[in-house]
Amino acid sequence: MKREYIGVFDSGIGGLTAVKHLIEELPNENVVFLADTLNMPYGSKSKEQIIECSLNDFDILNRYDLKALLIACNTADSAARKTLQKQTSVPVLGVIEAAAREACRETKNRKIGVLATPATVRSGKYEKAVHAIDTDIEVYSIACPELAPMIESGRTADDPEMAEILKAYLKQLKDRQIDTVILGCTHYDVLQKKVKDLLPDIHVISSSACAIGDLKELLMKRDLLNKDCEPERIYLVTADPERFKKTASAILKNIEIDKA
Ligand code: DGL
Repeated sequence: MKREYIGVFDSGIGGLTAVKHLIEELPNENVVFLADTLNMPYGSKSKEQIIECSLNDFDILNRYDLKALLIACNTADSAARKTLQKQTSVPVLGVIEAAAREACRETKNRKIGVLATPATVRSGKYEKAVHAIDTDIEVYSIACPELAPMIESGRTADDPEMAEILKAYLKQLKDRQIDTVILGCTHYDVLQKKVKDLLPDIHVISSSACAIGDLKELLMKRDLLNKDCEPERIYLVTADPERFKKTASAILKNIEIDKA
């Protein structure tokens, strides 16, 4: 039987948080995941560099018969989604619009915070996505250059240095009296519990989880769901599979990682 895959990419382990939700929500789907570990972090790159990396990611994933492509990286979504959609006739989904929509639904006081990489914050894409829904909602975006590289290197929410950095960012959001925060980098999902503990009254939104909601809806609408096959899952990296396997195990256990 011909296999069709959902292609998913990120610069690193953040994208696996989306794959985890994907497997839970759409257990029959074939998935090919790529982490561009060679070029991680994307968040400190220029828009042109991020587009170049994303095109390369697409070329690797496009060796498989794709039925949809999920950019499980806010940074790549903010810089390269349009460019990627021009490369292919399969639907290309991002994470930003889905998370912005959910945040607009959840906020009561119309103040949303966004934690994201410097490139995502610079792009202004979260502000744009929220204001396309409601121009009266205030958006406070904070660039967090340290977090994704620290998470990629295997440091957890209990790491004292990372906890201190996170606390300082969350204090800034608290001071702005936001009632909803978007984890606008898929890597930050591993901090979700810590953020909830530190901000118990604030609604915490995962861009990874929101994107899978959109993907499910799209596959259902287009009658593209995989009904009757043993799903295949392929995990690729552009560098250092052994190191990746170790850090990835905090999100998905017992996966085989191959070099792309
Ligand atoms: N996980 C990526 C995101 O959602 C970015 C990490 C990086 O800086 O490479 O933005």
